[in-house]
Amino acid sequence: MLADIIVDLQYGDCGKGKVTHYLCKYKEYTHVLRYNGGCNAGHTIYHEGKKFVTHHIPSGVFHGVKSIIGSGCVVNPAQFFKEIGELEAGGINTQGLIYIADNAHVITTKHLEEDGKDSKLGTTKQGNGPAYRDKYARVGVRAKDVPELEPYLINLYEEFHESGETVRILCEGAQGFGLDIDHGDYPYVTSSHCTSAGALLNAIPPSWIRDVWGVAKLYETYSGYKDFEPKEKIFQKIRDAGEEYGATTGRARQCNWMDFNLLERAAKINGVNKLVFNKVDILEEVKVWKLINNSETVDFSSGTDMEKWLQDKLGNNLEVHFSGNPHTL
Ligand code: IMP
Ligand code: MG
Repeated sequence: MLADIIVDLQYGDCGKGKVTHYLCKYKEYTHVLRYNGGCNAGHTIYHEGKKFVTHHIPSGVFHGVKSIIGSGCVVNPAQFFKEIGELEAGGINTQGLIYIADNAHVITTKHLEEDGKDSKLGTTKQGNGPAYRDKYARVGVRAKDVPELEPYLINLYEEFHESGETVRILCEGAQGFGLDIDHGDYPYVTSSHCTSAGALLNAIPPSWIRDVWGVAKLYETYSGYKDFEPKEKIFQKIRDAGEEYGATTGRARQCNWMDFNLLERAAKINGVNKLVFNKVDILEEVKVWKLINNSETVDFSSGTDMEKWLQDKLGNNLEVHFSGNPHTL
């Protein structure tokens, strides 16, 4: 039995979908499990030359791996069925591959209406916060209470512990460390557990964990209403080069240099042993390489320089990958 975890170390949108897609191709998983969040997430995946954006459905489905929306998630049934339709229309077989934990909670029309009125946090208006609030207030609706979801339900205990078969699970997180309900910049956070600990809330015992893949970008982005982007023209260049517009909302993401202290904290708290820096090609394009360390700007003369600094700081116990082009790792 084993489980690998993919976790975002910044504010979401660091390219977890790409890493999942890559790992599914090269490691032999029996399941891919989305472990937190709802359709606030937007995972962009390039599969066989085609671009797909999924919100609920884990990326394992692209490789014929059983894909589960876990008990740490909240599900909007209409969005779920819409996504299945889009995948099928794009030539992806979903038959017998997509499941929802019977104890996952449901996003209702009321949740959507309420979240739609948000003007304080800059939520994705997908009903996420109200659905989790009702879950914890013990007035929520579970997937097993919705008749139309019946054909997709799965019991995580039976699936992972009672089937008599060896399971190898890839746990795919949503959002990121900076948006985590406990470790993020409260109240500018989402309502779920975005850290590697969140994966364990889906019937996965800690002893099964093999690798924790942390995913970051070489710069940071944040979508929401707090002040994040410094008033410098370079960030508009980065936004355009990096196509930093939300996969769920279409909103322009605020950009900034990487906060190395946040990255270090996230890597430690998540127990990361492998780290992927994505979007290396974007700083190559704008030809400026900087980060923030202990509130000071550190300048580099090239990408190689910056990579060397990061590798030195992060130490040799961590396997670090630098990745550019969205189609490769
Ligand atoms: P909510 O999760 O829709 O309640 O939004 C709370 C905060 O998390 C807002 O700042 C959103 O922009 C942000 N957020 C939620 N999901 C994602 C995501 O998948 N990527 C990036 N930001 C997200
Ligand atoms: Mg995203």
